[in-house]
Amino acid sequence: MKIILIWAAMLLFAAGSVLAGGNGAQQEKPYLSFKEIPEFRIQRGEVLYKRYCLFCHGEYGAGDGMNAYTLPTKPGNFLDDDFRQETTQAVQEIIAEGGEGSGRDKAMPAFGNTLPSKNINDLATYIQSIKPPDTAADTDDGDDLL
Ligand code: HEC
Repeated sequence: MKIILIWAAMLLFAAGSVLAGGNGAQQEKPYLSFKEIPEFRIQRGEVLYKRYCLFCHGEYGAGDGMNAYTLPTKPGNFLDDDFRQETTQAVQEIIAEGGEGSGRDKAMPAFGNTLPSKNINDLATYIQSIKPPDTAADTDDGDDLL
């Protein structure tokens, strides 16, 4: 019985400290919430990219999506050095304002009225992080296993 009481006292003490900690509103946050972690943002961006962009821009952003051949202007290659030098803010603007709003071909749709800015930011973060496919792994026919 005594042991149970001691445990109960310890639990109350622990709960008290958690609550006290929670009251420190001015305290600086000691950690990032998982939604703020860059990898999480990139993964969100990838899901959105596959849904809204892949059929024009292609799986690796090379501008070779299945719909690209129907377009009057080919989508650019996200792996090009020129594109790599764009700031994240400029990329966000292109996505939000589309081709027409950013002095490009209007075949690039504007997403600013349909997607929240959080999604547009994550899309920009993702397309700036795309790496070329690992061709060695892609053409691996398993010969080296034999
Ligand atoms: C209907 C086809 C289509 C879809 C869907 C589309 N795009 Fe585009 N996008 C284009 C075309 C075409 C261009 C090239 C415009 C130009 O160069 O004048 C372009 C250009 C861009 C550029 C500028 C590239 C550069 O080299 O400067 C970015 C960034 C971009 N698109 C992002 C996206 C994102 C992100 C999505 C999905 C949310 C998306 N696009 C969906 C057709 C599309």
